[in-house]
Amino acid sequence: MPALAERVRRLAPSATMVVMKKARELRAQGRDLVDFGIGEPDFPTPEHVKRAAERAIQQDFTKYTPAGGIPELKEAVAHYYEREYGARFDPDREIIITCGSKHALYELALALLEPGDEVIVPTPYWVTYPAQIQLAGARLIPLETREEAGFSLTAEELEAALTPRTKAVILNFPNNPSGATIAPEALRRIVELARARDVFVISDECYDQFVYEGPPLSASTFGKENVVVTGSCSKTYAMTGWRIGWACGPPDVIQAMEKIQSQSTSNPTSVAQKAAIAALTGDQGCVRAMTAEYRRRRDLLVQGLNELPGVRCQRPKGAFYAFPNVTGLLNDSDDIRSCTELAAFLVERAGVVTVPGAAFGREGHLRFSYATSTERIEEGLERLRRLLA
Ligand SMILES: Cc1ncc(COP(=O)(O)O)c(C=O)c1O
Repeated sequence: MPALAERVRRLAPSATMVVMKKARELRAQGRDLVDFGIGEPDFPTPEHVKRAAERAIQQDFTKYTPAGGIPELKEAVAHYYEREYGARFDPDREIIITCGSKHALYELALALLEPGDEVIVPTPYWVTYPAQIQLAGARLIPLETREEAGFSLTAEELEAALTPRTKAVILNFPNNPSGATIAPEALRRIVELARARDVFVISDECYDQFVYEGPPLSASTFGKENVVVTGSCSKTYAMTGWRIGWACGPPDVIQAMEKIQSQSTSNPTSVAQKAAIAALTGDQGCVRAMTAEYRRRRDLLVQGLNELPGVRCQRPKGAFYAFPNVTGLLNDSDDIRSCTELAAFLVERAGVVTVPGAAFGREGHLRFSYATSTERIEEGLERLRRLLA
């Protein structure tokens, strides 16, 4: 077979693979696993959203749409930012609908980055950023956030990492995997600093509604000139499989993304776009109910984790992840020297699935998703208690 492209061969396999492979093997043997590895809501998509998609099918709304999404959905997104964050976007020129926010971020990487450009990404980070930056030929500059500061970021920390080659910084608050949020004043100062230094702020806000202390926050409140925000129906409305996300930003950037989109996916799925309109414009009670449930689960999980010997867990303020420090469980003298080995040990010995922090650029931690029922959280904690006692 002729060789694969160099850009693919350079991509590192995901650090989660060892654990996931082990979990698959054990499941195949019939083991009951408590899965804290999941990265998506366990709630069903709300009924009124499903009905809107059914109507779209019945009405034959099943053909190509404009590449950047249908005008009614762009308007719904514009209305969302105005309602939630007081930010005004022109639906026609400043908003693009994409196949999930992951694809918006990939199009942004292709539209903005040149070889040699540096992109600052606070750690821990979502696993996809390094891969997308690499695929665009640019360089990832990891910026370690402080655990004591709840993995948040300050303008001073960002400033120290800026170089003349910095093209963009990717923010992700609430954060996957740490659940970190950022204070409004810190976010405002970061946006202003980036603007002064001619650096793009790419703000991945796909967990924006899942915050447990203070109201939701968006970089779009603090500036538009150098800011692109991405958002999604995936988590907010439990719609991961529908693949609807978006980006809002300067017209030139949005137009460049649209060019790429028209030559790659053509458009986001027609029926899913109609469903997304129902989600964004319909009753938001479902979002409040899911947020309240996540908060209960967070409290249960974090308290349980902090009671385990060798485990120290910051109280995450958003998203649906906890990111405990587990260095107290690592030991040079046995074969659990890294968080990846620890995660493999927990699956094998307790049937508890977690994701090693190394996957997110942060050794010494595990990610626990609490997008699972309180019964399963209690069961998982009980198994860990027994194993670590
Ligand atoms: C931080 C972060 N950004 C973006 C995404 C992508 O979500 P989607 O493409 O479904 O909008 C995810 C999904 O897990 C995520 O965790």
